[in-house]
Amino acid sequence: MVDTQKISIERIANSRIGEVDFENIPFGRICSDHMYVADFKNGEWTDQRIIPYGPMPLSPSIPGIHYGQSIFEGLKGYKDPSDRALVFRPADNWKRMNKSADRMCMPQIPREIFMDGLQALINLDRKWIPKTEGSSLYIRPFMFGTDEYVGIRPSDSHRFMIITCPVGAYYSTPVKVKIEQKYTRAIEGGTGYAKAGGNYGGSLYPAKLAQDSGYHQVIWTDGKTHEFIEESGTMNVMFVINDTLITPELGDTILNGITRDSVLQLARKWGMKTEERKLTVKELVEGLKKGSVKEAFGAGTAATIAHIELIGYDDEDYYLPSITERKFSNRVYKELDAIKRGLTEDSFGWIQKF
Ligand code: COI
Repeated sequence: MVDTQKISIERIANSRIGEVDFENIPFGRICSDHMYVADFKNGEWTDQRIIPYGPMPLSPSIPGIHYGQSIFEGLKGYKDPSDRALVFRPADNWKRMNKSADRMCMPQIPREIFMDGLQALINLDRKWIPKTEGSSLYIRPFMFGTDEYVGIRPSDSHRFMIITCPVGAYYSTPVKVKIEQKYTRAIEGGTGYAKAGGNYGGSLYPAKLAQDSGYHQVIWTDGKTHEFIEESGTMNVMFVINDTLITPELGDTILNGITRDSVLQLARKWGMKTEERKLTVKELVEGLKKGSVKEAFGAGTAATIAHIELIGYDDEDYYLPSITERKFSNRVYKELDAIKRGLTEDSFGWIQKF
């Protein structure tokens, strides 16, 4: 059991909040005043502390830097009309982080370390939670191996941290994506389902090539045949084909997205037909050609519900119906946003007050 009284707090001398234009917040460039840190040493979590956000000394030989023994999460906080801080499904992020930790030979993070650290951080930086439409507090928990050892082996010591950033939209326009036919993000037996830093590092080059050709991101396909749709660079992908919500089924290679799951639960509540199954590139492209793909969107914490404007495949761009015609994704975006801001009933129990 962790003693939460043991979180030591060092407050920032001068808050930077006055420098932030809350009407115009870029994604991920400004961090709130404080950060939470806890260290895992000799088999136990110690030294829980909140300190001013900023650079910190680290040994240059740690495996978090050299070998990607590093995992992270992303969740979001909001303010309700009574100015209370609400966080969306934090226990699900905590559980997923521990699955990633398992895969990466890292220690389990006790619920108290995660939740009490988050609570203490939000208590201090509550004013940083934006209230403006389309904005939120992005919460980034992460952990990395900290042994001072250049050899390869699982680290014995680790650091868990939480930083937060007030953010606006991740994608400020509907997204253009390209179906990836050459490069691979994840393979069966690999780390694709984990939120491991290396998964993202390895995806930068194909994403850059796609961006050089005018797309925002790729849609990953399976590593063996490139015949099956998997997920997009920063989000899961979901499609409304005819009247059915379809998304690739989870497995080793796909991140178990919390927004993805929330969308599926809402769709089922509304009586919509949903299918989590293998979706071939062929089925998708044929659907795009004949117009049965009515909607396509990305679902993720950072991206929220990101409408997909067009999908590129084999040097051909397929445009989807206009955004205003997209009944399901517009409705699900609005409903999720209202739940997160405490504006409508949270019948799933997704919101935690902090
Ligand atoms: C998130 O949606 O929280 C993510 O981790 C995506 C990220 C790479 C910005």
